[in-house]
Amino acid sequence: TRTRVLDTAESDIQETLNEAAAIINRGGLVAFPTETVYGLGADALDAKAVRAIFEAKGRPADNPLIVHVASKEQCSALARNIPGKAFALMDEFWPGPLTLILDRTEIVPDVTTGGLDTVALRMPDNEIALGLIMVSGKPLAAPSANLSGKPSPTNARHVIEDLADRIDAVIDGGNVKVGLESTVIDMTLEVPAILRPGGISREDIERVIGAVVIGYEDKVHSGSAVVRSPGMKYTHYAPDAAVTLIEGEHEMVISRIQELLEDSPSGQLRIGLLLTDEGNKMISHADQLALGSKDSPGEIALNLFSGLRYLDSKGVDLILVDGSFSHLGIGAAVSNRIRKAASTIIKV
Ligand code: TXA
Ligand code: MG
Repeated sequence: TRTRVLDTAESDIQETLNEAAAIINRGGLVAFPTETVYGLGADALDAKAVRAIFEAKGRPADNPLIVHVASKEQCSALARNIPGKAFALMDEFWPGPLTLILDRTEIVPDVTTGGLDTVALRMPDNEIALGLIMVSGKPLAAPSANLSGKPSPTNARHVIEDLADRIDAVIDGGNVKVGLESTVIDMTLEVPAILRPGGISREDIERVIGAVVIGYEDKVHSGSAVVRSPGMKYTHYAPDAAVTLIEGEHEMVISRIQELLEDSPSGQLRIGLLLTDEGNKMISHADQLALGSKDSPGEIALNLFSGLRYLDSKGVDLILVDGSFSHLGIGAAVSNRIRKAASTIIKV
């Protein structure tokens, strides 16, 4: 297949949505923007189309997909026993970067849920995404539109880099607004468990439904947590280069990065840096990128994945990441993603 790029800047949006919906309705694959990252969509109820998603991404078959809806009514066909707390979260955060795990109904194929008896539902906060769901009339199964193991795509160019000629079309809706994937929360448990930190923070959720637990394991929570979300056991978000994360107080982190640069034998290892704005002002090195202020993790979230892709495109062997940004709010999710990409974490 030759992948078509459907432009929304120049063309009539309705026309683009009609074309994309026609592809979905004949069982094809269309990548589309959401507020978090680009998704690779197919009719969630068409087992053959969903299988094609796994093939295009090279994704393990036991890693289930998120089903995207455009209305709360659509949920009742897909999920049952929906608890009151789940409705409260929908009311507060949908459309938005929050995915709810619920008991599934029979119409959801096994391939979509990776054989689980639960289904992940999310209403994205993006007009193109919502438009595609409405015009096609289908709930859309959509994982992030990257090759399995690569950072999630935050613009249409990233999608093309990974999936050109493996999918039917990508709708170019410009850059995303959040930059990290949605928060995933299991609502089938007595006490809901966050399976993946993301755009909606734990504090935001607890303000609405009270206490939840952390059900994901990263290198912070290890020991105390069980891996429940099948996706969390794979090395995600891995760029080609090795990643070393340096965490701690800002000045200490920057001086450690400077030491690492000085100690590295010149010409042998090409090092790229992902820095806070503050760190960027203190270091001068060939391949370095500022992601945002250490006090605004939202900005760092927005630039992280494209930064990892950028340094990979430069062919660096090692990426040092300045981990001195705030871990509050979405900062927890930023730190989770970098920790997952990192082979080494240094605390200073
Ligand atoms: O922001 C997002 O969530 C993006 C956009 C496109 O919506 N999508 C996304 O999908 O990140 P994906 O497939 O890359 O990640 C889905 C995550 C995986 O960790 C998967 O294991 C988990 O959700 N998941 C899906 N269904 C599940 C289920 N029934 N039970 C537990 N975890 C589930
Ligand atoms: Mg993904």
